Amino acid sequence: MKAYLDLEAIGIVFPTARGPFRALQDINLKVNQGEFISLIGHSGCGKSTVLNIVAGLLDATEGLCLLKDKEVKGPGPDRAVVFQNHSLLPWLTVYQNVRLGVDKVMADKPKTERHDWVLHNLKLVHMEHAAEKRPGEISGGMKQRVGIARALAMQPDVLLMDEPFGALDALTRAHLQDSVMEIQAELGNTVLMITHDVDEAVLLSDRIVMMTNGPAATIGEILAVDLPRPRDRLQLAHEPRYHALRSQVLEFLYNRQMRPKEAA
Ligand SMILES: Nc1ncnc2c1ncn2[C@@H]1O[C@H](COP(=O)(O)OP(=O)(O)O)[C@@H](O)[C@H]1O
Ligand SMILES: [Mg+2]
Repeated sequence: MKAYLDLEAIGIVFPTARGPFRALQDINLKVNQGEFISLIGHSGCGKSTVLNIVAGLLDATEGLCLLKDKEVKGPGPDRAVVFQNHSLLPWLTVYQNVRLGVDKVMADKPKTERHDWVLHNLKLVHMEHAAEKRPGEISGGMKQRVGIARALAMQPDVLLMDEPFGALDALTRAHLQDSVMEIQAELGNTVLMITHDVDEAVLLSDRIVMMTNGPAATIGEILAVDLPRPRDRLQLAHEPRYHALRSQVLEFLYNRQMRPKEAA
């Protein structure tokens, strides 16, 4: 079976003042349609670089990135990105921020349909009540919800999220993680999400891609998260399998990546 999203031998070298810097080397990953993939690794290892290559914001020096068998060349509406720091336009209302993207990808659809679609997506993230507010009038968690609604409303083939909950307090993060799980269960989105939170990775993912430290970072291990869905964070806390998976990720990050020589 062909992969939906296919990263083949991706590498990238950045030119810097102190000479070329190899950030990534030989990244190989096949993602199936509807899969939820987390990318985890230490700060600075190259997670955002991978995501930006898939987004088309960066050009890989080597290798190929294929989405539905087509080479990714530059950004496109088939790949929506949610960043850690909500990138809403401050002078537009919540509704208008989402509408902007919808008008772009649904230009051929009647206005009423576009309007309904915006409201539908705001409902998915429980933000329809704040449609007329501006980003300055809502909390960080709410802004992140709107960012996710905006991305979902564009019906991308792949949803790319770079530490989408990283800037939020623990309770808000938990709520938003639950919303994302519900939405993904309903819509079957293909998601590539970056995180450095082990619990978040295990809770949300079908597979966790663990990256080695840079320079020349690559994929160290891929862990399949075989926990049944829907997943309930409180119930999982009592599941031995959840703790086993969690330990495997921690083991990789803390033993193998922090003390690679001793572990070898
Ligand atoms: N445009 C750039 N020019 C030079 N070096 C870069 C550039 N972007 C990222 N890097 C370097 O590549 C490595 C990976 O960065 P990044 O992907 O942002 O890491 P992460 O998201 O895992 O924290 C880091 O060492 C970073 O300094
Ligand atoms: Mg990053």
